[in-house]
Amino acid sequence: MTRSARALLISIAACRPDVPVAVPGAPGELVPAIDLDPDPDVVEVALRAEVAAVDLDGIVSEAWGYRDLGGTGEVTVPGPLIDVPAGARLRVRLENALPESTTLHFHGVRLPNAMDGTDLTQGLVRPGETFTYDFVVSDAALYWYHPHFETPSQVWKGLYGAARGTGDSPAGRDRVFVLSDLTVDAEGRRVLDVPLDQRRDGRQGERVRVNGAPAGGTIALARSERWQIVNACTARFFTLATTGRPLTIIGTDAGAVAVPYERDALRLAPGDRVELFVSLPAGATTELLALPTDRAGRVPAGETVTLWTATRTALDGLPPVIATAAGALPVSSGTPGLPVRSVRLGQGVAPNGDPIFSVDGVPWPFETPYEEALGATAIWDVRNDTDYDQAFHLHGFFFRVLEVDGVAPAHATLEDTAEIPRHASARLLISFDAAGAWMFHTHVLDQAELGMMSHVEVR
Ligand code: C2O
Ligand code: CU
Repeated sequence: MTRSARALLISIAACRPDVPVAVPGAPGELVPAIDLDPDPDVVEVALRAEVAAVDLDGIVSEAWGYRDLGGTGEVTVPGPLIDVPAGARLRVRLENALPESTTLHFHGVRLPNAMDGTDLTQGLVRPGETFTYDFVVSDAALYWYHPHFETPSQVWKGLYGAARGTGDSPAGRDRVFVLSDLTVDAEGRRVLDVPLDQRRDGRQGERVRVNGAPAGGTIALARSERWQIVNACTARFFTLATTGRPLTIIGTDAGAVAVPYERDALRLAPGDRVELFVSLPAGATTELLALPTDRAGRVPAGETVTLWTATRTALDGLPPVIATAAGALPVSSGTPGLPVRSVRLGQGVAPNGDPIFSVDGVPWPFETPYEEALGATAIWDVRNDTDYDQAFHLHGFFFRVLEVDGVAPAHATLEDTAEIPRHASARLLISFDAAGAWMFHTHVLDQAELGMMSHVEVR
């Protein structure tokens, strides 16, 4: 903890006991961001990133979080849920009250490059500075926001939240779930700093949280629900499954899929989103489980965690609802003759012995930018030569996974984040329809920060 952060914490905790501490939401209960603009086509939100004293299961400890200046005035971890009707404009004024620089990146939103929130596109928002993000949210889907500077450490400390492009829902009720993890010390306080050996593997918290609350909460299920889930962990991969029934997948990173499909279990990489359709007979219960998950030989797979239990208590006698096909973004078909670019994700050791990660053998920020012509469609053949499963993420575009190790996925979906298993490769189909400098990196955030990050210039 820096001295100013500690002083702030003490002043909040000791001298101003009347200052409300944030109460983490129960599952399904994120705090909604307050829209300051009466125009229905504009959502305006004012967030202040700051160091705060946050209640963690009854123990107050330091976290970094977002205060919704238009809302209750509390800092919440995760940050407020920002809802924007698809097609409307979102304006977010970010004030930086942190002791270091930050930015805000809206992960997955297809926005103008100048609003992408990376130091390539805007420089940094220094302590005391303000920056306003202003763009149209064109697609109905679940997104999330997080800093794009010192990303692993700032996300780890609590700076992340969900943003949603809203539209028609196939279900009677929508819920957003932000999955995260953290580690606490012997006193139950959030551990903020992580040693290098944990960062090499990608820091992974010991405890899983759901919308900021401990995993294992309960919800009363409506007749049919859509669960929009984002994995906001710095490195943890989830293997999701429900007891007693398969998962019904109705959406991915880009929103609704053309045809819903079922899976017994689904891996959700860091940064990734999925939308599940859930409908149970009256009186029935299901648990959403996170099963033990192998992401690297040296990282323990862990135990099964019950993320939450859902019970349909209504005694209306109505039968469960079956998911039906919803609209979706077009998925291009046919790829012969497209240029193929090879991308290699690597790992190594720096001359001083520190772990290092790379794209095409070069660690960020020393990359040579890729170049693609505006309007071009290409195949990126991304090979993961590391000993870790990776979450490959590209800013600014959705892509379609054509193959993983030569095998086409059973379902065509559009993604901005896709898992590439260790020592495997994936072919991604991408249409570069927006100009600018767009970053791509693993969403195992420490490994991105240790070098597995690059960018593509589209012009
Ligand atoms: Cu979720 Cu480059 O970010
Ligand atoms: Cu992103």
